[in-house]
Amino acid sequence: MLTEGLVVVHEALGEEGQRLRRLVLKGPFAQTAKAGQFVAVQVQDSSISSYDPLLRRPISIAEISPDRNEITLLYRIVGRGTEILARARCGERLSVMGPLGQGFSLSAEGELWLIAGGIGVFPLYALAQSALAKGLTVRLFWGGENQQFLESAGLSHWQALGIPIHLSTLDGSLGQQGLVTEQLQERLSQLVGQAKQEQLIDCEKISVATCGPKKMMQAVTELCKASGVQVEVSLEERMGCAVGACLGCVCTLIDVAGTLIHKKVCQDGPVFRGEEVVWDVLC
Ligand SMILES: Cc1cc2nc3c(=O)[nH]c(=O)nc-3n(C[C@H](O)[C@H](O)[C@H](O)COP(=O)(O)OP(=O)(O)OC[C@H]3O[C@@H](n4cnc5c(N)ncnc54)[C@H](O)[C@@H]3O)c2cc1C
Ligand code: FES
Repeated sequence: MLTEGLVVVHEALGEEGQRLRRLVLKGPFAQTAKAGQFVAVQVQDSSISSYDPLLRRPISIAEISPDRNEITLLYRIVGRGTEILARARCGERLSVMGPLGQGFSLSAEGELWLIAGGIGVFPLYALAQSALAKGLTVRLFWGGENQQFLESAGLSHWQALGIPIHLSTLDGSLGQQGLVTEQLQERLSQLVGQAKQEQLIDCEKISVATCGPKKMMQAVTELCKASGVQVEVSLEERMGCAVGACLGCVCTLIDVAGTLIHKKVCQDGPVFRGEEVVWDVLC
């Protein structure tokens, strides 16, 4: 599980101002990785020999290529750790722990709807690829700040998959103006109306996977619950060890009997069933 990843591509993703990066790593993790899992990358500055920063940084696996023994990580530079990571050059070897956590579960048939907020779209790409390879129908709902963000964060790669895509931007520069959840709500209402007319509940054939801001995933879960659609959510918590030892990433869930339980996002997640998450006391 602890291994080295050879940097084979490390480049800016889209407009420089978005501070997004694409990092392709070659290593054994590519053979077992599943959509929804993540790796914990060591980001120590090699120019000064120190253990600072001590903690690895968790990044989702955005693409898995077992034939090339490669995984792709897409990340935004937000602080010191990702700034150090962004300096890694091709040919360098990074210490990588993973693949870690529990990924998304895929239905055997039916439609998979992906609901993404901002850079929450990154882990959903690997899921879309696995679902398409299994013959599922995939549909993406993706909301972002504006056109520049969506184009920088990989819109053309999604379009190349040839799937239906519903875009939302806050400023209306691309797709429908507003929140991605509004488009989901419209589509679910259409579907429920259609199902009633045809006296069959098509919602059972749909499953939803979502990743993005907590408020968005909570809203997605509530909409899906109201329509009888199964939803899986990918939670993001600050992590310490990333392997279940420090309890730094504990979240609150509710089990089928209605009892509150605690689980570790790094080991039991990051993917959970939406209905089991207690959103108001997440950590
Ligand atoms: C399971 C998992 C998967 C992730 N996948 C991705 C990914 O695919 N792409 C990506 O860009 N980022 C991803 N992240 C977030 C990424 O780990 C953080 O952005 C990174 O650790 C920040 O490190 P830093 O030292 O640069 O920033 P810091 O200096 O540690 O923090 C900078 C800012 O980012 C916030 N932040 C840091 N870590 C997190 C976190 N885990 N959740 C929410 N906010 C945080 C801090 O509160 C602070 O405001 C993921 C996180 C988790 C837990
Ligand atoms: S980060 Fe240490 S238990 Fe999850």
